[in-house]
Amino acid sequence: MADLLRVENLCKSYPAGGPPWDRRRVMALDGISLSVQRGKTLGLVGESGSGKSTLGRCVLGLTEASGGQVIFDGTPVQGLTGRALSDFRRRVQPVFQDPFGSLDPRWPVGRSVREALDCFRIGTAATRDGQVLDLFNRVGLDPALACRFPSALSGGQRQRVAIAAALASEPELIIADEPVSALDMSVQAQILNLFMDLQADLGVASLFITHDLGVVNHVSDDIAVLSRGKLVELGQTDQVMRHPSHAYTRSLLAANPTLVKGEPHAHRTD
Ligand SMILES: Nc1ncnc2c1ncn2[C@@H]1O[C@H](COP(=O)(O)OP(=O)(O)OP(=O)(O)O)[C@@H](O)[C@H]1O
Ligand SMILES: [Mg+2]
Repeated sequence: MADLLRVENLCKSYPAGGPPWDRRRVMALDGISLSVQRGKTLGLVGESGSGKSTLGRCVLGLTEASGGQVIFDGTPVQGLTGRALSDFRRRVQPVFQDPFGSLDPRWPVGRSVREALDCFRIGTAATRDGQVLDLFNRVGLDPALACRFPSALSGGQRQRVAIAAALASEPELIIADEPVSALDMSVQAQILNLFMDLQADLGVASLFITHDLGVVNHVSDDIAVLSRGKLVELGQTDQVMRHPSHAYTRSLLAANPTLVKGEPHAHRTD
């Protein structure tokens, strides 16, 4: 199947953070190549500081890479301008760990979702209120919650609103950076199941970033493992879980004993 997203030899370095005359740099990403196929989920896993968010931000164009390429649907993303850039932004949407960051605290949450529809000119002014309600239903939220402010929702409800806002532009790829890490375990399972439903029902592909192998095991078709800016493992989820080829992946699995011995994917809880 054709790659929707291809990352080729991506590099990103940052100043090491010493005094101004210190020219040393941290290689946050060191020659990463991977791809996400249409409608599939690639889980990107690795310990804190391994470069996961940097990769997600480079794909979204929020951080400029030091080298290499990001190719979306056959077109290099670096250097996109005008209509091509807004089209890319419509087709690739982020979901972050903290939905407070993406929802305006002064607005009822329905307005944030409506804003996304307005911004990308999805539907018409007359249809958009109905589309907001449809999106609330789509993510399993009571549409009556649309008039509440973010502070009056639970963490799980807020993340559902953020996902509804991301879906408003009818994206083909979601870059989800630790979207369940701030949630209680039971709520985590519900949001993971929502991601899987979106993949099954809408065919949305995801780059799903997490430090938690249990989470990637649950949602991913394929797994990429980062360690200190390098890609140390890439393969189908079952294959990586049953036969990790790299010592680092084996150590991650050893730290998560319930996943060892190739346990099958976790089952849905709702
Ligand atoms: N804006 C920045 N300036 C300088 N260094 C940075 C910056 N952003 C990230 N880094 C460094 O790049 C490396 C990778 O960071 P990154 O945030 O991508 O890791 P991560 O895998 O997402 O970690 P976590 O699981 O904690 O979110 C780290 O060494 C980090 O300190
Ligand atoms: Mg991160």
